[in-house]
Amino acid sequence: MYYIGIDLGTSAMKLLLVDQSGEIKNSATKEYPLLFPQPGWSEQEPKEWWGALLAGVTELMSGFDASRVCGIGVGGQMHGLVALDENDNVIRPAILWNDGRTAEETEWLNTAIGKEKISEYTGNIAFAGFTAPKLLWLQKNEPENFAKIAKIMLPKDYLNYRLTGVHACDYSDASGMLLLDVKNKRWSKEMLDICGVNESQMPKLFESYEVIGTVLPEVAKTLGIPASVKVVAGAGDNAAAAVGTGTVGNGACNISLGTSGTIFISSDSFGVDPLNGLHAFAHADGYWHLMGCMLSAASCNKWFCEEILGTKNFPAEQVGMEENLGKDRVFFLPYLMGERSPINDVDARGTFVNLSLDTTRRDMVQAVLEGVAFAIRDSFEVAKAIGVRIERSKLCGGGAKSPVWRKMLCNILNIPLDSPQTEQGPGMGGAMLAMVGTGLYASVKDCADALVQVKETVYPDPALAAKYEQRYQQFQKIYPSVKPLYKEIKEF
Ligand code: XUL
Repeated sequence: MYYIGIDLGTSAMKLLLVDQSGEIKNSATKEYPLLFPQPGWSEQEPKEWWGALLAGVTELMSGFDASRVCGIGVGGQMHGLVALDENDNVIRPAILWNDGRTAEETEWLNTAIGKEKISEYTGNIAFAGFTAPKLLWLQKNEPENFAKIAKIMLPKDYLNYRLTGVHACDYSDASGMLLLDVKNKRWSKEMLDICGVNESQMPKLFESYEVIGTVLPEVAKTLGIPASVKVVAGAGDNAAAAVGTGTVGNGACNISLGTSGTIFISSDSFGVDPLNGLHAFAHADGYWHLMGCMLSAASCNKWFCEEILGTKNFPAEQVGMEENLGKDRVFFLPYLMGERSPINDVDARGTFVNLSLDTTRRDMVQAVLEGVAFAIRDSFEVAKAIGVRIERSKLCGGGAKSPVWRKMLCNILNIPLDSPQTEQGPGMGGAMLAMVGTGLYASVKDCADALVQVKETVYPDPALAAKYEQRYQQFQKIYPSVKPLYKEIKEF
């Protein structure tokens, strides 16, 4: 049998065709545009995602027996607001997870309603990328669109709706809306009231591995797959990636170097970070996790190489870097779209520090990669401060393909990093959730234990880790000293 795992990413959709032994038989990637209508805003057209799915599945299945497909699971970019009208038409472009327009609404939620209350209702405080502040923004700035809303969905739920006709959402993705009572796994009446919406506008909730329906006959015909194909609820991309890398069970950790950078700590019980620096969300295995999310990770490298250096050849920019680890004197703050964890600052921006006439092109690329790794360490430190012990971590995402970036991160965090067979966490996780939903495995844990294998481990080198420790202490001092300037520059 075959399972299709889909990663609905920010810059592209990645699709995997996986057989029951977990082997990836084929893959396809479909890119779509990211829209920046104003500085700090980030939107996408849901119809682009659907187009990518149709073209992607067709390409994926070419040369394979489509009658053997039995399940589909999607892991998707989280928090994006997809609003449908009473005829299930998309009202406006989706407002994405890395959109920073809701500073005012976020501030209002955290102060007027108060962090304590919001955290009591949801397990989290408000961050600009979350869905609830976006609803408040829409209500104030586009009241005519707000009035039309019949259903509120997340990006992957829109795809699941187009596949099955069912309005569904899973707990892991719903956690990032700031509308879910995460601990009790139900919509928060209080938060829905605060945002001026009601439960009939919300999708039905499922565990990630539960089947929400079968593929609609007309869609099955277009895709050439059987109409009996089951679609599971799927998960937010980080929870799906955690499944794909086998990050299930108490204390397991996964780091993703994708467009965003995340550190994901799986847990058997629900727990809140008392400082609310880390998100307390549901996991796709039926339990919970803590997560720190930086808004620009591999996207910093992509931006610097493609937009500034004018090259798509990322490995060529990293040649010779390994010998220079721990020696670069340039720093980079990776806040190109503002930052979420742990500084929660929509006004922060990318910043190079300590350039000199002898700074080379490679020094700057290295500073970009190190800046991302130091910023991941910031969330790692928050986890340590609340008593979470992370002894080692899995690593996935496009950035994890770079050996030098893996080595850097390993020494900056000073823990071993395990790379699973595939770095495509969310797509693999989606396929694995479909295996559980269609009955191949009894639980997500069983599936992960059976299928996920570590391909390679990088271990820290004590001398390099010590150098990076000193550099991290310096890195930590930069943001507080430039912080007041970002707002001033924005308002100039
Ligand atoms: C997580 C987050 C990002 C997106 C990226 O909270 O906002 O990781 O899910 O796809």
